[in-house]
Amino acid sequence: MCGIVGGVAERCVTEILIEGLKRLEYRGYDSAGLALLNKEQILRERRVGKVANLAEAVSEQHLTGNIGIAHTRWATHGKPTENNAHPHVSGNVAVVHNGIIENYQELKDELQALGYIFTSQTDTEVVAHLVNDALKQTDSLLEAVQKVTPRLKGAYALGIIHTEHADELITVREGSPLVIGVGIGENFISSDQLALLPVTNRFVYLEEGDIARLTRTSIEVFVNGERVDRPVKELDATVSNASKGEYKHFMLKEIYEQPEAIQQTISQALNGNNLREDFLQHANADFNKIQQVQIIACGTSYHAGMIAKYWFEQLIGVPCQVEIASEFRYRTPVIVENTLYICISQSGETADTLAALRETQKRAKANNINISTMTICNVATSSMVRETDHHLLTLAGPEIGVASTKAFTTQLAALMLLIIKIGQVKQRLAAAQLTEITEALWHCPKVILDTLQHNTAILRLSALFVEKNHCLFLGRGTHFPIALEGALKLKEISYIHAEGYAAGELKHGPLALVDNEMPVVILAPNDEMLDKLKSNMEEVQARGGELFVFADENSGIQEKDRQHVVHIPAVNEWLAPIVYSVPVQLLSYHVAVLRGTDVDQPRNLAKSVTVE
Ligand code: F6R
Repeated sequence: MCGIVGGVAERCVTEILIEGLKRLEYRGYDSAGLALLNKEQILRERRVGKVANLAEAVSEQHLTGNIGIAHTRWATHGKPTENNAHPHVSGNVAVVHNGIIENYQELKDELQALGYIFTSQTDTEVVAHLVNDALKQTDSLLEAVQKVTPRLKGAYALGIIHTEHADELITVREGSPLVIGVGIGENFISSDQLALLPVTNRFVYLEEGDIARLTRTSIEVFVNGERVDRPVKELDATVSNASKGEYKHFMLKEIYEQPEAIQQTISQALNGNNLREDFLQHANADFNKIQQVQIIACGTSYHAGMIAKYWFEQLIGVPCQVEIASEFRYRTPVIVENTLYICISQSGETADTLAALRETQKRAKANNINISTMTICNVATSSMVRETDHHLLTLAGPEIGVASTKAFTTQLAALMLLIIKIGQVKQRLAAAQLTEITEALWHCPKVILDTLQHNTAILRLSALFVEKNHCLFLGRGTHFPIALEGALKLKEISYIHAEGYAAGELKHGPLALVDNEMPVVILAPNDEMLDKLKSNMEEVQARGGELFVFADENSGIQEKDRQHVVHIPAVNEWLAPIVYSVPVQLLSYHVAVLRGTDVDQPRNLAKSVTVE
């Protein structure tokens, strides 16, 4: 998704803006640009493609300035061209924008009738012209922006500068994330705090509807024209978290970080084999009341929710529904009393999940229905965390690779902790089961470490996928969502078409696809469905399909002709889906590297999907 960086300082901000944009590359983009104010002039440079192209152009021209805005664009309105790249300029105003202005066509017609010339196909350009136009009635850039924002429909974050206001930067947050980085004698803005970590670890998190004026030495935040206070918060993430270290890609680094990330996530909740007394303590009364759970999420986070459904129902007998947020938000679902609505999201900013949450809250309030809301999230300061009654953080550290890995497995660990908690509060979890699961949770990082030892074997298998065009992933029970997740990982980074299926569905359709060109990946933990899964494997082999099996070391499944096997260490059945995520991640990663794709920033995808 698009990214914003801006700054106002005594020093030249060019390098800070470029470094910020580089740090936002992981979010996905197709062009980049910046605008600096220098001697009452706007110096603007834009380039299609990587930030490196922009950096080169900026350095060749020695562009400098003490105040500037910069942007990575992920095309929505209009193709990825230089003219469509941000910043957009109207007169003396330059604007960068994340999000979508839904009524831009109507505004564009109006502005064109007033004589404004449009040089791009973007929705953003209307904002630049509107601010320029509003400045006919006021000398204050802040007031002009305050006049314009009520006219904009949609979701947006903005950074705005003006040549005659060479000491101020105006920023707006309305439905799209934006933070202010607080420096010493300098201040910054960004759509993602990671971009600003080289210059500060102190942030002001704007709320929806906030408009802020930044100078080098001051930050003023306004809501409906009134000054409001927003606290400055210190972040403990370190700059080094956002570097690849010894790894070739962030994705590989993040796959290898999983043992530690899971350890961190469970350590916040467990004391030996018991839950810490203060773990989600403030939620006890709500958890006691709930009769059922509704999970809302997108993509990989949705797959985590699908696994949690098995766990909620089988372990503690709490009914659980899971739905993709983009469907849930528009289908007017019945809001049921005493339901716990759980958003699962790595970023906590995904537009569909956030909208589904807000819609649920609005309708529950309007109809006086008692519900509780909760977020499972990797970003403590995200909108979802702030807007739900309760939250549980996955302590995975920043995830930079677009394909989610450690965020997913820590979501699973967090969901299991939540289920234990609700099971205890509702007295639905036997002591023996608590001990079994907590012991298995503590053991999980070690089993993942042992599974990572199979990296070379998986790399060898991946060579057999490079020339393939299609692939099937099969699993049963909690490994059906892992099959979906494996297929999603493979398609998103290697661009091989892949489908995940519940193995029992094979003969209801997908078996027709199986021939000797079709690799079929099987997830075979040692559970009560193993024999049935073995029958499904026979069905594939009988049709000439080639099997790639991740099988429990005690499953009895062995290598044979057209059946490749990687043995996964024995793992407690409940937690097996966490461990079986790892080989499918590694497989996708190696296939993608062999096919030469951009692993960390696959085409057309964005890390944080903050627009619909
Ligand atoms: C796939 C992937 C996406 C995200 C989805 C939701 O690897 O990462 O499918 O899971 O876009 O994002 P979050 O979890 O941030 O809400």
